[in-house]
Amino acid sequence: MSDPYPAFLDEIAASVDGFLSRYLQAVDLPDKLRKSIEYALLGGGKRLRPCLIILCCEAVGGRREVALGPAAAMELIHAFSLVHDDLPAMDDDDLRRGRPTLHIHAGEALAILAGDAMMPLAFSLIYRTEGLSAKATHRLIRELAEATLAMIAGQVYDTLGGFPEGLSSRDRLDLIHRNKTGALMRAACRMGAICGRAGEETLDAITRYGEAVGLMFQVVDDLLDVTQSTEHLGKAAGKDREAGKLTFPGLLGIPASREEVRRLRDEAVMALEPLGKAAGPLRDLCNYLAVRTK
Ligand code: IPE
Ligand code: IPE
Ligand code: MG
Ligand code: MG
Ligand code: MG
Repeated sequence: MSDPYPAFLDEIAASVDGFLSRYLQAVDLPDKLRKSIEYALLGGGKRLRPCLIILCCEAVGGRREVALGPAAAMELIHAFSLVHDDLPAMDDDDLRRGRPTLHIHAGEALAILAGDAMMPLAFSLIYRTEGLSAKATHRLIRELAEATLAMIAGQVYDTLGGFPEGLSSRDRLDLIHRNKTGALMRAACRMGAICGRAGEETLDAITRYGEAVGLMFQVVDDLLDVTQSTEHLGKAAGKDREAGKLTFPGLLGIPASREEVRRLRDEAVMALEPLGKAAGPLRDLCNYLAVRTK
């Protein structure tokens, strides 16, 4: 079988990194803070959420240039979520993207503040985006704000519990994963489609794709935690069970979790049908995300 890693990922990652790096140089920040943000944002990482934005924009007929700022904004929110996720009060992790986590590298205060700063930096990028109507810009801000809040809600359930009454373990798991990870991926897809001026029906199809891919992504993340090594992942493996997290392999076992990944992959690919050939790269990305090993 040919390697499912899509070649376009590296090219998109390089253009998003270039954009982010120029942006960080241009904003007025204390040097310590800028260096901390650069460390967390630009050292390693797959840039999958930016890829979703750009590919969804192109799949609906939009231009990549318009989606670059929103893609960079989404990566800022994602990096903020990782920096705070790793803090001692949260998952307490020392390793991220193959390097010491930011709080180990620069101290806890800078890690908290760098995470804080990445949020407004993301939103200012959206309102600076050129080539969009005021209405589209408002929609992007709303998508990003709602998804960021959902991510934080998911982190609360994941870290502290406090679920609504009467939910089964499976429903709790879905609630955690759809929020802590799924929401940003769903929003990435919708934001790409909005940048490409998609009509409502196309936006619905892209949303269904984003929801399936977003949940699948975290099921795979849970599987990798129990099947891969720390060296390979560049982050601590085996942490979820140790920390007593509610995960797919923990609740359903490995084979049923793998089946769930296949089911969600098929659901995502099926959602793309109305887009026809233009959605080829999104199909390739989804097939890769189902079998990724890091
Ligand atoms: C890790 O996300 C955190 C989750 C939401 C599972 P990624 O696996 O996309 O992390 P990077 O950006 O590639 O490091
Ligand atoms: C992370 O979930 C979700 C967010 C950062 C919002 P995990 O805690 O499973 O992510 P990793 O495994 O540390 O990357
Ligand atoms: Mg976590
Ligand atoms: Mg974690
Ligand atoms: Mg994990």
